[in-house]
Amino acid sequence: MGDQKGYGLLKGKKGLIFGALDDRSIAWRIALACQREGAAFSLSNAPVALRFGSLDELAEETGSKIFPCDVTKEEDVQELMKNVKEEHGKIDFILHAIGMSPNVRKNKGYHELNYQWLQQTLDISAISLHKVIRYADEIDLLNDGASIVALSYIGAQRIFSKYGDMNDAKALLESIARNYGSRLANRGIRVNTVSQAPTKTSAGSGIKGFDGMFTFAEKLAPLGNPTADECADYCVTLFSDLTRKVTMQNLYHDGGFVTAGINEDMINDLAQLYADKEGEG
Ligand code: NAI
Repeated sequence: MGDQKGYGLLKGKKGLIFGALDDRSIAWRIALACQREGAAFSLSNAPVALRFGSLDELAEETGSKIFPCDVTKEEDVQELMKNVKEEHGKIDFILHAIGMSPNVRKNKGYHELNYQWLQQTLDISAISLHKVIRYADEIDLLNDGASIVALSYIGAQRIFSKYGDMNDAKALLESIARNYGSRLANRGIRVNTVSQAPTKTSAGSGIKGFDGMFTFAEKLAPLGNPTADECADYCVTLFSDLTRKVTMQNLYHDGGFVTAGINEDMINDLAQLYADKEGEG
């Protein structure tokens, strides 16, 4: 879409966007796309991220307010929902783009997990979606027909060794999306996860072996890896009225990676690689 004007898909809609840290963040790109499509929104991130990140710039560029919230703290989430309601009245969409694993960050293998850190991984990356939806619903923040999207990764279905306990966190995140989706459907409210391909962001680069995962996905996906801006365009459609009956889904946004087995180039490259290795041995 680049600098184009957009389609007005979110004209008049209001939202809440979690997880923009710097201009590489997927949430940052989604915020820009939402603005392009005519939405107004509030931005939120953890107090510590507000100190180290550059969210102020995005707030200025989009004319949005920032509300700090550590999503592991119930009282923070409750307070945030009150603030957003004061700011906008009822809202039409929420983006959950939050993930962090102390085990992955500190390179703790899956067989030696620190369980306190595992609790943090699950709390920050998955249970937070439950808290966000619960407290938004409790103060009646969501309009009928609202759309909630959380960002996930294919590690929920298939094990990627370097993704450690985040594989488990994403499985729980997707389950919470389905479970809550079933409970809000009577008001036309949709809850989905978008399973995005490896993307070069701060969280992405925090994973040891990320470059290998990125390259593997890029080579295997028939359409190649989608960028954060392309993810943003997809999320816009999910926030829009064009996807009113899509709910409780995990939607792959990965250039076809999930369905691809192997391709000619990779077969040839691997055959060459293993022949060379055997030659060396
Ligand atoms: P990012 O590092 O820009 O975003 C992660 C965000 O989570 C940060 O803004 C961070 O401040 C926030 N966060 C961490 N702890 C928090 C807390 N306690 N309270 C509130 N916010 C907190 O990285 P990225 O890649 O844009 O991540 C966004 C989402 O996309 C995450 O759920 C991530 O797992 C997911 N994703 C990322 C992929 C990638 O390769 N980068 C691939 C697939 C999914």
